Amino acid sequence: MANLGQIFTKQSVADFMVEMFTLADNAKVLDPCIGGGAFVESLLKHTSYQIYGIEIDEALFNALPFIGNSRCCLRKGDFFDEMAEYDGIIMNPPYIRQEEISYLTPYGITKQKIQEVCAMMPISAKANMYMYFILHGMQLLRYGGELIAIFPNAWINTPVGNQFKEQIIRHSQIQEFISVCGNPFEGNPAVDVCIIKLKKGTTGKTHYRILYVDGNNLYTKNSKFSPTNAIGNESLTRLKNIATIRRGITTGANKLFISPQLCDTTHQINIITSPKSIIGYSTQNVRLENMLAIRKSDRLSDEEQSYIHQCETKILNDGKPLSLKNQIEKGKSWFRLNIPTPAPLLFAYIIRKNMKFVYNTHANHVRDNFYMITPDNINVYLLMSLLNNYHVYLQLEQQGKTYGNGLLKIQAYDIADLQIPNPKQFTGTEISLLTALGKQLTETGKECIIDNITTLLESHYKNNSKIEYLALRHNRLGI
Ligand SMILES: C[S@@+](CC[C@H](N)C(=O)[O-])C[C@H]1O[C@@H](n2cnc3c(N)ncnc32)[C@H](O)[C@@H]1O
Repeated sequence: MANLGQIFTKQSVADFMVEMFTLADNAKVLDPCIGGGAFVESLLKHTSYQIYGIEIDEALFNALPFIGNSRCCLRKGDFFDEMAEYDGIIMNPPYIRQEEISYLTPYGITKQKIQEVCAMMPISAKANMYMYFILHGMQLLRYGGELIAIFPNAWINTPVGNQFKEQIIRHSQIQEFISVCGNPFEGNPAVDVCIIKLKKGTTGKTHYRILYVDGNNLYTKNSKFSPTNAIGNESLTRLKNIATIRRGITTGANKLFISPQLCDTTHQINIITSPKSIIGYSTQNVRLENMLAIRKSDRLSDEEQSYIHQCETKILNDGKPLSLKNQIEKGKSWFRLNIPTPAPLLFAYIIRKNMKFVYNTHANHVRDNFYMITPDNINVYLLMSLLNNYHVYLQLEQQGKTYGNGLLKIQAYDIADLQIPNPKQFTGTEISLLTALGKQLTETGKECIIDNITTLLESHYKNNSKIEYLALRHNRLGI
């Protein structure tokens, strides 16, 4: 039988969504795909709206308990035949991949038909069915009308998803974007979902929230919060107890020290200066730059002395950087740097999209936009696994400070205080497995390995770290 995308919303979540409407008492509200009727039931209980609904599956439709209810006008059929105007639309649209849409011809549904129906809001033929449902819903909404939908997050940052978003914001305001943590559906479908509320024909800011679904209990958080995902059992320790953490090299004036205009390379070292130059989870193919690294006891060549003199003149003329200007005025050797021993693991100080702890393959030096992590008494690949998993990423996403433009700043103490399983408690087999996964991640960069590590470490943390992490990240990055 063709897939009709039948995943049913929990009654508590349907109630939560219905309560998001701010329509007049006698508003006309449509559920375009009734399923078992969670939204209709909630609309009947919690509003005085006139309720309309459509369901294509005959058996489901015939089983609905509301037929004959004077406030309901429900029909069996295809939503893409609907052309009436509504004040409100609420839906959990069917999730049907584009390749599967062709199996729906027995129901009178073809891709050509839905593309034609959505012609006013065109989208790529690769769109999932839920996108067509929302776009057609938008077409049926009156100006000022509201559409509330729960659907997968998979569209975010994909080419088709970007087209979808463009269509939505051309015609409406995304008033609310709610990332959902936990399972909002009956049964146990593994989908990462969001709830959006659109208002047609208006503009304005989007309000971001997170909805936590714990069984039938719901609660929402506006923005950042910091419960830890660690269960708090004794099997956990802080990273600072098993590793040493420090910042990379600070120069005070990168322009003068990095790629210096000097032929003499005696005191130049290779350095990683940008997290963007790291591909995957190791520095194997990283782009290196040169840095002038004159230590306390180094003797300068004539060329170096002349370069330092030029730099001093420039700093004094410019009056900056102030800290170096002050040192020059006090006659200090401002150009001599403290060069720490390179560390085997690296972590970027500012996060854009993905977090990652990176294996420093050739033990390169790094600038102070990285943290350097050296394990005290455990093997590096084991530590790669203990750090590269969603339990740890979630802690960092919770603790980091937002830095504008969706960036997240991670402080040294956030890294030092990370709660990770105490390696002493692992069996030999666990150590071998985690070490092998850490090595595989380093060598292949495959993100599915992070899922495997997360699962292996699950017993030490609360469930759902990945979903919660992704929800927080959606909140931070916006849509
Ligand atoms: C994801 S379920 C959601 C059901 C219900 N609203 C809920 O939230 O529990 C989607 C429903 O849409 C129905 N459906 C699929 N294609 C449809 C179409 N073209 N027109 C109307 N209903 C459709 C499916 O049979 C299914 O019951």
